[in-house]
Amino acid sequence: MSREKLGILASGRGSNFEAILDHIELDVLQGVDASVLVSDNPDAKTLEVAENRNISNYVVEPKNKEDREVHEERIYEIFRDKDVSLVILAGYMRIVSPYLLGKYEENIMNIHPSLLPAFKGMEAQKDALEYGAKVSGCTVHYAWKEVDAGPIITQKAVPIQEEDTVKKLSNRILVQEHRTYSKAIQLHADDRLEVDGRKVHVDYSDNWKKEWRKRQEAYIDHQKKSWKESEIYEEVFKK
Ligand code: GRF
Repeated sequence: MSREKLGILASGRGSNFEAILDHIELDVLQGVDASVLVSDNPDAKTLEVAENRNISNYVVEPKNKEDREVHEERIYEIFRDKDVSLVILAGYMRIVSPYLLGKYEENIMNIHPSLLPAFKGMEAQKDALEYGAKVSGCTVHYAWKEVDAGPIITQKAVPIQEEDTVKKLSNRILVQEHRTYSKAIQLHADDRLEVDGRKVHVDYSDNWKKEWRKRQEAYIDHQKKSWKESEIYEEVFKK
């Protein structure tokens, strides 16, 4: 099987991007290269992450009044040059147009901090809290024209607590996002996903889940260290 080459699109902090890089570095995520990061925002912290980890990175800012397609044509040129096979939206604040969706049909993934289809949009964690939901979580899905609406690959539930704040809930969900995104990418790279209309059939045969869980322990150990100072540490990492 040929290696999956990721083209990451991100606009902000870049913690999901970094978690993917960690998974690759720890040999948890296998057969996958982080080929290039493109940001639409020249001030995005995610560019520093790429720089520090020696990942080629570009800023492609939308020009004044430029339409989405023309902006994406410039992004696509970079992706094509780098042989990108799978596009990863990791906190990308722009809506992907039919142009890029057409170039990478069923090969663009997004992560969203709720259990879709509940709480689409920019304030998913706040909306879940205000609604009084008892469970939220994260969803990895293929991108479709409608935002936060494509076929779901995998989801992870995170219980909401009585005393929750948006920050605490967001952080507990983020810990799971960092684990879940790489799982979805590995399933894709292993050719275990089959899109059938709205549904994604996942082939977990031959102990895929068990082996993934075993391999991912190395990342979870690493993750534990990086969340040490956080107020959610006890809740998430207590055994
Ligand atoms: C994450 O919560 C992700 O689910 C959402 O945007 C946020 C990006 O965070 N789409 P980061 O830039 O990966 O830290």
